[in-house]
Amino acid sequence: MIKKMDQNFWLNTKDTTYIFCITSFGHLEHIYYGPDLTRGNLEQNIEETIKALQHKNSVVLGASVNYSKENPTYCLDHMCLEWSGTGRGDYRNSPLELKMPDGSFVHDFIYQSAQIVEGTVPMLELPGAYAQEGECTSLIVEMEDVSNQVYLKLIYSVFEETNVITRRAILTNGNKQQLVIRRALSMSLDLPNRDFLMHTFDGSWIREAHHHQTPITPGTQSISSTTGGSSNRHNPGILVAEKNTTENSGWAYGFNLIYSGNHYAGVELTTDDLVRVQMGINSHCFEWELKNEESFETPEVVLTFSDKGLNGVSQQFHSFIQEHIVRGDWKKKIRPVKVNNWEAFFFDFNQSKLLKLAKRAKDVGVELFVLDDGWFGARNNDHAGLGDYQVNRKKLPSGMKGLADKINQMGLLFGLWFEPEMVNEDSDLYRAHPEYAVKVPGKEPTLGRNQMVLDLCQKEVQDYIIQQVSSVLDESNITYVKWDMNRHMSEIFSKAVENQGEFYHRYILGLYRVLREIFYQRPHILLESCSSGGNRFDLGMLCFSPQIWASDNTDPIERLKIQGGLSYLYPLSTMGAHVSNSPHQQTLRETTLATRFNVAAFGCLGYELDLKNLTKVELKEVKGQIDFYKTYRQTLQFGKFSRIEQGKDNKLQWQVTERAGEQAITGFFQTISNAAESFDYLKVEGLDVNSQYHIFSKPQSIYIKRFGGLIKHLLPIELKPDGFILRTANKVYCLQEGIEQYEASGKLLEGGVLLNNQYMGTGYDEKLRLFGDFGSNLYVTKKI
Ligand code: DGJ
Repeated sequence: MIKKMDQNFWLNTKDTTYIFCITSFGHLEHIYYGPDLTRGNLEQNIEETIKALQHKNSVVLGASVNYSKENPTYCLDHMCLEWSGTGRGDYRNSPLELKMPDGSFVHDFIYQSAQIVEGTVPMLELPGAYAQEGECTSLIVEMEDVSNQVYLKLIYSVFEETNVITRRAILTNGNKQQLVIRRALSMSLDLPNRDFLMHTFDGSWIREAHHHQTPITPGTQSISSTTGGSSNRHNPGILVAEKNTTENSGWAYGFNLIYSGNHYAGVELTTDDLVRVQMGINSHCFEWELKNEESFETPEVVLTFSDKGLNGVSQQFHSFIQEHIVRGDWKKKIRPVKVNNWEAFFFDFNQSKLLKLAKRAKDVGVELFVLDDGWFGARNNDHAGLGDYQVNRKKLPSGMKGLADKINQMGLLFGLWFEPEMVNEDSDLYRAHPEYAVKVPGKEPTLGRNQMVLDLCQKEVQDYIIQQVSSVLDESNITYVKWDMNRHMSEIFSKAVENQGEFYHRYILGLYRVLREIFYQRPHILLESCSSGGNRFDLGMLCFSPQIWASDNTDPIERLKIQGGLSYLYPLSTMGAHVSNSPHQQTLRETTLATRFNVAAFGCLGYELDLKNLTKVELKEVKGQIDFYKTYRQTLQFGKFSRIEQGKDNKLQWQVTERAGEQAITGFFQTISNAAESFDYLKVEGLDVNSQYHIFSKPQSIYIKRFGGLIKHLLPIELKPDGFILRTANKVYCLQEGIEQYEASGKLLEGGVLLNNQYMGTGYDEKLRLFGDFGSNLYVTKKI
């Protein structure tokens, strides 16, 4: 609901209220963003409410610059503003840096009018949140820098049910003289400080989205990306939360940007303890010229607030993404269990190897076979072939259609990998069109993974990609596409843009056009975007791809940090998560098959290893895992996710609860085990406190080989550790962890069930949890 009452705007979602007002000089003053205030006798009490909430400014502070002679205490620098200018006495960061038509850098946008409309306000070129009828109301506030005839529209969309408000800005030049934009952020918001921490999700390749929290100190703390993509260095999403906020209590704000290019988020603490939060396109190498009547649209920022802690904010983000960002046939459709051939074979495969992997995968219950890199042109390693999407007939003699048909005949869906934004110097495309690649004329381009970026600012290049990818997709029965992008940009330059300050943004607009043309026409295709793992995990890509490959790192213990970090901002249905080999490719860490599955189950499950190398008992376990996943995947992919606080450094608990609250799946994970682990609580939160539940652990296997010389503690017979008999026995025989089960009320589960003891060198017993380092289990809770 949006209301304009007198000079005040009230934006209300189910549980939150956002208020700002027009000041006597026509600026927008931010009044409040927090828990819902609409209860009670609101209409009669507006003035009192505003008076109680407004940041007080009745003293003249030394060294301040006053906006007007008439009012000595009206000083922009000390006000909570909804938007701020430059050169009129506000010395904090302005969301805009403009070279105005009059040649100055001074701008001052003054309120002109406002309009409340049903639904969202369509974006000009960028992807944005969408809504069905009745799900959203928008407010368009028109502002003007009167002396320059430059117009600013601030657009707010209110998504009541998911407790989200989105914000963006559109600048229009009404002046005959040119306007130069050097920074155009989407949002600026001033809040009185409440001892806030800034939460960010940072990393690098194979270490994406690690959660960090830092106290806000005077000055500006920021995260940004300059790589050309949203990057694995800092995810665009941030949280700002009170210091004592826990997973389930305290005030927390969430901000995320619907954009896949260079981004910026800044949190500025001022001398008078106000906090300015800003988000938008990074101004790094950015410059945009607006001629008369031209407009520039900024990407949309998603804002959410919860007084129920970090889980509160995360759950609101999750619902919003599932309802208003992800679209198309796969929006709410159960995601198939896949096998991907990459880590099984890398570039070294042929049709026969692929079909054998597919057959084994089918036998254990996999539903989708994905052919990764290496199927086209001279792509036998990562030095050649990118750009040439003609099937390599030596590897695939019956062509793509032949392979896809064979896979389909096995009863599997077929999916295919592309890296369409890239080109190798050693490719037919580059030999024919060197001008398609991004490079500065006369400068040797720097390579990343031996490849160059295709210039998506050029319409011709966009059309080439659309045509190439579409023709492969239309030739065979392809249900899934993995869209990869494996390097950061360098030497940015395009002959298609006059001002190179427009390059980064025009590239992203080009990318969105390509994705729109290919995939909005083919909504039956499930798109999983990828960029060396999670190097472009953002809301812009999620407008096209319902899921994103979270990381090239599939080590489950690393994934606890990666998927755990992403979970603050994104729902499980968006995260590609695979079971792969142990020891792990990147960390050499050894983990059990059970733990690898238990972590990957909190995402869109796949297997990425050569199933030929699994023993009979392991294959049986994989089959059991897939059966389990299929039984509970509606909840695992689309349920309500929470991080449960364990209070111990080496323990972690995740929970997904079915939307109707009838069942929950809990993952209990241990990282490094401590000697004599005394006891563990398993907490199941958010169920009906008055109902009774049955809680039981998932069956999982214990491989005797893991015990080496300790095998004498487990078996009555003496076997040589790692001898022939033990190795052979290990292939066909394993022990089972006992199933642990209880009946308990929702109230009891909230406090926690005390779990069985862990193994401490005292022999095998079905009543023990054989966890050790990196042990874990899943627990199902069902209403009785
Ligand atoms: C990087 C991706 O993240 C991997 O999963 C794989 O697709 C390779 N590229 C293929 O080159």
